[in-house]
Amino acid sequence: MLRPITPQSIGTTDFFRNTAFLSTLADLLLPLENPRVIFHACSCGAEPLSFAAIWRERHGGPITIHATDIEPQFLSMAKNITHERVTESDRELVTFLTPRDMVTFRTDEPYDAVICMNALCYLSEDKQRLAIQGFCKCTRHYLCITAASPSLLRQELRRNGFRPQWKSWVRIYYGWRERLSLRHRKPWKLPIIPMLVPAWRYSGTSIFAR
Ligand SMILES: C[S@@+](CC[C@H](N)C(=O)[O-])C[C@H]1O[C@@H](n2cnc3c(N)ncnc32)[C@H](O)[C@@H]1O
Repeated sequence: MLRPITPQSIGTTDFFRNTAFLSTLADLLLPLENPRVIFHACSCGAEPLSFAAIWRERHGGPITIHATDIEPQFLSMAKNITHERVTESDRELVTFLTPRDMVTFRTDEPYDAVICMNALCYLSEDKQRLAIQGFCKCTRHYLCITAASPSLLRQELRRNGFRPQWKSWVRIYYGWRERLSLRHRKPWKLPIIPMLVPAWRYSGTSIFAR
């Protein structure tokens, strides 16, 4: 794992952290013409760079991949991190935006997919709600969220017409390996049996569609 840290933020991430999730998202986007996607809270960028590699390996066509985080230091690191599976042309597919707070982020140009993985759990429920409401406004098709409050997520996504997307959900769920736990006391932990969480459909899968 990569573990960048500042006094304000924990940026734990990894290349190909959940390959099932990234591949499933790529497969859903393949039929779209020149899809636009944004990775919020991307830490030092391993997640969008891995997605770019998977997109190329699946022979995806033109795509716009934006990525950002609230921490300028993490975004600076994105220039230097490397992985043997990520080529220079994969790297060129990803545009790192200036630092953005996902809670206040808004745009007039919607994205086909908005991704926010393993970050909402660091925010209060009020801020999670604001962030999710903002994501809904910016998303045309796929909203990808994990490690939020499942009941809050259910409320906001239902209100905005998103449904859990079940393609490959078991592989995606167990792909969050380091978050699986027998005693899921922390909000970002996932029980070995997904159904043990109230509103489990909203923590069982990480992809929601409309
Ligand atoms: C644990 S990392 C997750 C990295 C990556 N998404 C992943 O799943 O591997 C959490 C990230 O959320 C970012 N973050 C926390 N609060 C944020 C906010 N309000 N807006 C944008 N990013 C934020 C942190 O800077 C950190 O990089």
